[in-house]
Amino acid sequence: MNIKEIKELILKRASCRNFSDHPVEREKIEMIVEAARFAPSACNSQPWSVHVVTENEKRKKIAQAVQTFGINKFADKAPAFMIIVQEKSQLLPKLADLIKKVDYTAIDIGIFTAHLVLTATAAGLSTCIIGWFKTKKIRKIINTKNKIRLVIALGYGNQRISSKKRKEINEILKFYD
Ligand SMILES: Cc1cc2nc3c(=O)[nH]c(=O)nc-3n(C[C@H](O)[C@H](O)[C@H](O)COP(=O)(O)O)c2cc1C
Repeated sequence: MNIKEIKELILKRASCRNFSDHPVEREKIEMIVEAARFAPSACNSQPWSVHVVTENEKRKKIAQAVQTFGINKFADKAPAFMIIVQEKSQLLPKLADLIKKVDYTAIDIGIFTAHLVLTATAAGLSTCIIGWFKTKKIRKIINTKNKIRLVIALGYGNQRISSKKRKEINEILKFYD
């Protein structure tokens, strides 16, 4: 893949808030996670696990758990959710967290999630990363006491890609030659 193709993939990924009824093939999800698991992490800690919910009743409950005050209504139509759970970090990054007062686990999970959504895009799927959810409800549905970091709605998209509003490159790129 050259840089042009990578940029095309990055531009193709867009938050999807309108999914078709088409179910997501299990093999595709396995392929996505198989690729994303090679994401980098502090001290190679890999503090994540992915919990995929497609079963109808559980899926409806997840959709409800990401909705409050009228937000994330689109989740009702998502055929699958990937729940990103925080797993135990290794001692070294945990110590670094304490000393540097930086949450490396959150950074690691963000990088992992970016790998997941880009790989899903390459597989022809659409995603929406959801950061607004009721932790207790989701914990109960997937039966975990661990921290729920993100929920990703996953499916085949029914929407056109609109242009992306982003900061200009000269606002974010500085050279020190
Ligand atoms: C950590 C995180 C949390 C997000 N939470 C939500 C959410 O709860 N609901 C939603 O509709 N979009 C959510 N988004 C999607 C962002 O709104 C979206 O990525 C941003 O507006 C840029 O648009 P794009 O993804 O289409 O390029 C979230 C994105 C991230 C990275």
